[in-house]
Amino acid sequence: MRDLAVIEGGCLAARGGLIVFAGSRAEFEREVSLGDDAVILEGTDRTVLPGFVDAHTHLAFAGSRHEEFAMRIDGSSYEEIAARGGGILATVRATREAIGEELEEALARRLDRMLLHGTTSCEAKSGYGLTLESELALLGILNAAAESHPMSVVGTLLGAHAIPPEYRGDRDGYVTLVAEKMIPAAAKAGFAAFCDVFCERSAFSVEEARRILAAGRAHGLAPRLHADQLSDSGGASLAAQLKASSADHLDHVGDDGIRALARAGVPAGLLPGATFCLKSKTHAPARKLIEAGVSVFLATDFNPGTSRTESMQEILTLGVLLMDMSVEEAIAAATLNAAHSLGLDHEIGRLLPGARADFLLLDVPHYLHTVYHFGVNHVTTVVKDGRVVVEGGVLVDEDEERDVRR
Ligand code: NIG
Ligand code: FE
Repeated sequence: MRDLAVIEGGCLAARGGLIVFAGSRAEFEREVSLGDDAVILEGTDRTVLPGFVDAHTHLAFAGSRHEEFAMRIDGSSYEEIAARGGGILATVRATREAIGEELEEALARRLDRMLLHGTTSCEAKSGYGLTLESELALLGILNAAAESHPMSVVGTLLGAHAIPPEYRGDRDGYVTLVAEKMIPAAAKAGFAAFCDVFCERSAFSVEEARRILAAGRAHGLAPRLHADQLSDSGGASLAAQLKASSADHLDHVGDDGIRALARAGVPAGLLPGATFCLKSKTHAPARKLIEAGVSVFLATDFNPGTSRTESMQEILTLGVLLMDMSVEEAIAAATLNAAHSLGLDHEIGRLLPGARADFLLLDVPHYLHTVYHFGVNHVTTVVKDGRVVVEGGVLVDEDEERDVRR
């Protein structure tokens, strides 16, 4: 993770949506011949990075929880607010009402903002519908958005995000609904690649999570897990036992959990936006995880309750300054390692021939500026699948889109 294999004064060439060359200018001049219609992007004094891969988001929601945010600043805790009927269930009420055009529009705006900040692929969870119909509708909206937007979106069913009000007093009934109805339906619709559970003392127990994720696996949905976010509740060990695609949050993971993840080769998704926003003093032990040999990735956790940012640049800053990652580790964590957790590291998160031509030009002379010069958007150009989709820091109008696939 500390070796980004930086090429100074290098060149990158793409054709047909794929990278065909990445190397020095001298090699480029020897090996690559450009057609007359090639589009040239000048990168002098700039930095080129792979498009960010945001492998943990909750994009499909309506409404806002800015009032809860203010209550937390005044001293209420996330779990207290949730116990009073706020939290995830407040967003469930708003989302159920907005399913349809209103939600589609909100989602498109979020995807635009992500692209403007350099994210070219993301994972996106359902989890604010919590009925069979609404969870499927949310996954359907995510899939439709992915088709009409440059962003690549991988869907995750998070039916087990909270117990909905209709099932208060019948936890088992809800777990059965998720395991026996939602999972088969989501798998059949082909809308999701993964299944996730919020495994926490105030959400789903390890045993409930195990049952749901086993059902997911049986239907071809690989497990991901919200693990040990608010307490050390055995989530990491469960993720290790299930050989999950990722164990995320991990703010309170213990040494046993870290060892289990390392042994099982389960990637750890660190979400410093959530700890920052919850004003938590306890951050995921990034150093211990990395030193134990765990593949660590960084993601926004974009959601209305605990992390309302679309910016992976912000997350790099938090990963470095709150979790003691190096800038190199943070960049690897936000690109290649995130792609690995999605099973896509052969095609995204790296700038090598054969990978998709998803890359960014940042208006900084050195990659260290992505963290050193923090709090602003350095991305000026975004190329997605070989097409320039952001230029001069603004979205390219589709009709005028420049095609560098030629
Ligand atoms: O990842 N922890 C559970 N889910 C989200 C928060 C969801 C919400 O508050 O709406 C998270 O932090
Ligand atoms: Fe999350």
